Amino acid sequence: MSITPTELQIRSESDIVTARKLVREAATFLGFGLTDVTRIVTAASELTRNIYVYAGSGLMVCMPIERGTKYGVEITFQDNGPGIADLAQAMQPGFSTKKSMGMGLPGSKRLMDELEISSVVGKGTTVVVRKWLRK
Ligand SMILES: Nc1ncnc2c1ncn2[C@@H]1O[C@H](COP(=O)(O)OP(=O)(O)O)[C@@H](O)[C@H]1O
Ligand SMILES: [Mg+2]
Repeated sequence: MSITPTELQIRSESDIVTARKLVREAATFLGFGLTDVTRIVTAASELTRNIYVYAGSGLMVCMPIERGTKYGVEITFQDNGPGIADLAQAMQPGFSTKKSMGMGLPGSKRLMDELEISSVVGKGTTVVVRKWLRK
């Protein structure tokens, strides 16, 4: 991955595979070990799938970040879908409006170092996740 952000439009189920590949390459390039790469790819896969399933389409942006002496990766998942009425409920393990596992959001929070979610009903949802390189 270069210094510039990598962007991917999510429109079809096959874009989840592409997202996984892009994020795997980016995280590996940035120096994450295999375990962290797998964590980051798993989170990106869940969050990309949420865009596809709940919003139909959206955007993933992956980029290197720096905070003080720390380096890491930040991935943003943005859609203009239906939004989420109750974010606290959506973050609960096992909560799902599609009768699926309900682990995508809480699992991603656990796998990453930081997860921020914002959503407006009728406007869309943005999820930002970050992982820092261990020193
Ligand atoms: N991008 C999104 N747009 C709208 N609703 C979402 C989005 N992502 C998640 N949600 C809502 O949050 C719930 C929990 O998501 P998640 O933890 O991934 O579990 P699951 O996808 O298995 O239901 C979903 O059932 C859905 O109602
Ligand atoms: Mg999900």
